[in-house]
Amino acid sequence: MSYSCFTSILLFNLILLYSCFAIDVDYDSKALIINGERRLIFSGAIHYPRSTVEMWPDLIQKAKDGGLDAIETYIFWDVHEPVQREYNFSGNLDFVKFFKLIQEAGLYGIIRIGPYVCAEWNYGGFPLWLHNMSGIKLRTDNPVYKNEMQIFTTKIVDVAKEANLFASQGGPIILAQIENEYGDIMSHYNDSGKVYINWCAQMALAQKIGVPWIMCQQPDAPQPIINTCNGHYCHNFQPNNPKSPKMFTENWIGWFQKWGERVPHRTAQDSAFSVARFFQNGGVLNNYYMYHGGTNFGRTSGGPYITTSYDYDAPIDEYGNLNQPKWGHLKDLHASIKLGEKVLTNYSTRNDKDLGNGITLTTYTNSTGARFCFLNNNDTNNDANVDLQNDGKYFVPAWSVTILNGCNQEVFNTAKVNSQTSIMVKKSDDDNKLTWEWKMEPKKDTMLGNGSPKAYQLLEQKEVTSDASDYLWYMTSVDINDTSIWSNATLRVNTMGHTLHGYVNRRYVGYQFSQTGNQFTYEKQVSLKNGTNIITLLSATVGLANYGAWFDEIKVGISGGPVQLIGKNNVTMDLSTNLWSYKVGLNGERRHLYDSQSQPQPHGASWRAIPIGQPMIWYKAEFKSPLGTNPVVVDLQGLGKGHAWVNGHSIGRYWSSWITPSDGCSNTCDYRGNYTPEKCKTNCGNPSQRWYHVPRSFMNDGLNTLVLFEEIGGNPLSVQFQTVTTGTVCANVYEGKQLELSCQSGQVISQIQFASFGNPEGQCGSFKKGSWDATNSQAVMEAACVGTNSCGFSVTKEMFGGATGANNSSIARLAVQVTC
Ligand SMILES: *[C@@H]1O[C@H](CO)[C@@H](O)[C@H](O)[C@H]1NC(C)=O
Ligand SMILES: *[C@@H]1O[C@H](CO)[C@@H](O)[C@H](O)[C@H]1NC(C)=O
Ligand SMILES: *[C@@H]1O[C@H](CO)[C@@H](O)[C@H](O)[C@H]1NC(C)=O
Ligand SMILES: *[C@@H]1O[C@H](CO)[C@@H](O)[C@H](O)[C@H]1NC(C)=O
Ligand SMILES: *[C@@H]1O[C@H](CO)[C@@H](O)[C@H](O)[C@H]1NC(C)=O
Ligand SMILES: *[C@@H]1O[C@H](CO)[C@@H](O)[C@H](O)[C@H]1NC(C)=O
Ligand SMILES: *[C@@H]1O[C@H](CO)[C@@H](O)[C@H](O)[C@H]1NC(C)=O
Ligand SMILES: *[C@@H]1O[C@H](CO)[C@@H](O)[C@H](O)[C@H]1NC(C)=O
Ligand SMILES: *[C@@H]1O[C@H](CO)[C@@H](O)[C@H](O)[C@H]1NC(C)=O
Ligand SMILES: *[C@@H]1O[C@H](CO)[C@@H](O)[C@H](O)[C@H]1NC(C)=O
Ligand SMILES: *[C@@H]1O[C@H](CO)[C@@H](O)[C@H](O)[C@H]1NC(C)=O
Ligand SMILES: *[C@@H]1O[C@H](CO)[C@@H](O)[C@H](O)[C@H]1NC(C)=O
Repeated sequence: MSYSCFTSILLFNLILLYSCFAIDVDYDSKALIINGERRLIFSGAIHYPRSTVEMWPDLIQKAKDGGLDAIETYIFWDVHEPVQREYNFSGNLDFVKFFKLIQEAGLYGIIRIGPYVCAEWNYGGFPLWLHNMSGIKLRTDNPVYKNEMQIFTTKIVDVAKEANLFASQGGPIILAQIENEYGDIMSHYNDSGKVYINWCAQMALAQKIGVPWIMCQQPDAPQPIINTCNGHYCHNFQPNNPKSPKMFTENWIGWFQKWGERVPHRTAQDSAFSVARFFQNGGVLNNYYMYHGGTNFGRTSGGPYITTSYDYDAPIDEYGNLNQPKWGHLKDLHASIKLGEKVLTNYSTRNDKDLGNGITLTTYTNSTGARFCFLNNNDTNNDANVDLQNDGKYFVPAWSVTILNGCNQEVFNTAKVNSQTSIMVKKSDDDNKLTWEWKMEPKKDTMLGNGSPKAYQLLEQKEVTSDASDYLWYMTSVDINDTSIWSNATLRVNTMGHTLHGYVNRRYVGYQFSQTGNQFTYEKQVSLKNGTNIITLLSATVGLANYGAWFDEIKVGISGGPVQLIGKNNVTMDLSTNLWSYKVGLNGERRHLYDSQSQPQPHGASWRAIPIGQPMIWYKAEFKSPLGTNPVVVDLQGLGKGHAWVNGHSIGRYWSSWITPSDGCSNTCDYRGNYTPEKCKTNCGNPSQRWYHVPRSFMNDGLNTLVLFEEIGGNPLSVQFQTVTTGTVCANVYEGKQLELSCQSGQVISQIQFASFGNPEGQCGSFKKGSWDATNSQAVMEAACVGTNSCGFSVTKEMFGGATGANNSSIARLAVQVTC
């Protein structure tokens, strides 16, 4: 790269002009070195297919405002190559545009090609045709698989190169990843695993992208590939080459949710603690997984049972709103660590001093004597007062890190949150009463047992559907000549999941589903008649597995069965080797009933009441898009399980009827101690997901159409469109720090619900005055904030008129709660 631009232009004229703008990406153990500049990098994951093109600029800007240097994304093979060698890079699959926007915002990009991505994405991102290829074994030393992986990786690299996306070409991408967390499961692939991962490395290096390659969770990553760490904490991680920078590719900022599960949260304090500890221990790059989680539109959610929302408790919520205080607290953290960037990336000595009781002071010093410190209290219970003599005295709460600029000035503590807390509310649009039409799923053919292919066995579901639909019909017939045995029998089906409906002689006999998303036994009483009986079973999947060794071979559907009829005296008839007919998908899917333009329209006779609680119905309603610019959701409370579309755009699967356990939640969440997704859950005893995001770009100004396919039975009468906005905002700011309060755009602060400058207690939603406070707290806040969209000032005793009533001998704190 030192090859001079001047020479290039002289020799090769404009063709090589790009090399002038080439950005050189190098590294050592202390820094990423970008164009010679030694950098620490904060990055955040935003997956382009989990939002819309229209949302991208705002998400990217919010990431930049949050203090990020880079945005990271996986590449999703299954959606880019749905049919072998037929590629799709349009709409929200236009990753080139996504990276161009990142570059225009002045940020770097990180591309994780995989092409296995996990990501709670259907089948881990693998296209199903891959599974169908003869002789293939995925993610191991298998020539059929390796060939496809190489073709796809090369395709993505070529598309990226053509658009000059790599930093080496002047583009934003500074790092690229091959494979994904293979080290976690490699031992299950025996010796072939090692051969495969070496091949991955060579294949990637041969792409000559001009920026470093990484592998995450791969302790034996072949050189020069840099191995990186994923987890909730990575401070103890060390790369396998002492010259490699220490990088945290997935700092799990929260967790994903499954149907039937409570909603997981990770506190701002513990998230910041994880990052601060990582940089205290020599970290160079931290990437949040996720920074914006977004939505699993269509049938993209992985499985089994990943919800449509992929909010992840990320700093930007599913709808694109700031998740406060997390976003703001991490922004403050980034700015504080950046104060030390010069020292941390080029230090000459690092000293760790154990001060006892879990307290460690880490001092970085550079060759000109500048210092930067991290003071860590990793005790889970005890706060500490630490006396650093000449460098000052510090109050370090339990399970926190204080960042000391120059080693003698506290600029941040991970447990002291100064940024605002926002409590989001949903506002409904009362004028928008929905009028429903409906159509029963047409199923004459399957009730008669008609379908193809046919086989004398119970086939695995993916083998038949290639996942073209969630649904597969299994149909057979059975001749009965003794009704005394069979008029009251049991139909028993052993299925690999996920849900199953049964019909006998066109009569519905019921529905059951797997609680865990694995094997279960369906059992219903059925009445068989003399002569020929038709048995029709409908199996549905809810997201294909995306994780684990050989996850791609996990079976779904009534694979092998057995399917049995059990009559009087336990007389058992096994139907597993009957002649079975199959039919992939629903007739409504085939006829595009989800598309508002489709003919015939769903309809319901006006003299008949809307069907409620009945399975297999297509409902349709028209609505006006809610006014304003706030994000829109549809509340699907009352419905059972199914899929929803707005103007033909899928907004994902829903399963509103699956209620979460009533226990295991709490209003308060102790940030202290190692985080696990079992901590800090909310949404007990409610639908696991009730609200579904409807991106503004899916709607138009006139009438819009909502279509629901209700699989198990529900009531659409309480369905409502709502907007999501800031309702209440709180702040809790120490004297000497900056107060910043803001409502969502277009809203103003209308009321100060609570204000106390003193020693207030409680938290947002339950603040109380402490033993002392400034008597004019409320009046000061009203004067400064009411009627404004945002307000801010430095919190001092002077601001509160010398703070009559305040305890002048201790540091005061301002707690405020306002209505937007
Ligand atoms: C390509 O993907 C976009 C975005 O998902 C989609 O709207 C479009 O229909 C796809 N194109 C084809 C040909 O499938
Ligand atoms: C799967 O492979 C079989 C035979 O190899 C082929 O007939 C079938 O069309 C394939 N299915 C898909 C979805 O590619
Ligand atoms: C790995 O080795 C074990 C023990 O030798 C064997 O049982 C297993 O089948 C092997 N797995 C693969 C994928 O070769
Ligand atoms: C040491 O850090 C200071 C910033 O705190 C910086 O100005 C100086 O250039 C650094 N010295 C070296 C040799 O990196
Ligand atoms: C806290 O840090 C000390 C050393 O700094 C270590 O020995 C101890 O295990 C840590 N405790 C926890 C809970 O991480
Ligand atoms: C890094 O420190 C060395 C001395 O230790 C100094 O020569 C060099 O200029 C510094 N680099 C930067 C970018 O400050
Ligand atoms: C009734 O069915 C059983 C088994 O399906 C068969 O063995 C028997 O011969 C049948 N009897 C008559 C009267 O058809
Ligand atoms: C049931 O059908 C068989 C022939 O399939 C016949 O022999 C028998 O009489 C029938 N029984 C009744 C109760 O209809
Ligand atoms: C049918 O059989 C089940 C048990 O197998 C029993 O509980 C039920 O009462 C029976 N129904 C009739 C109508 O005989
Ligand atoms: C039928 O089988 C079940 C177990 O599958 C057993 O509990 C029951 O006692 C059996 N009934 C008769 C009448 O044999
Ligand atoms: C705190 O100081 C202010 C003036 O600086 C005084 O008016 C006030 O009474 C003092 N409060 C207490 C509790 O001492
Ligand atoms: C004022 O603060 C000091 C030091 O924190 C404390 O000892 C004293 O009890 C406080 N007084 C009141 C009235 O809260």
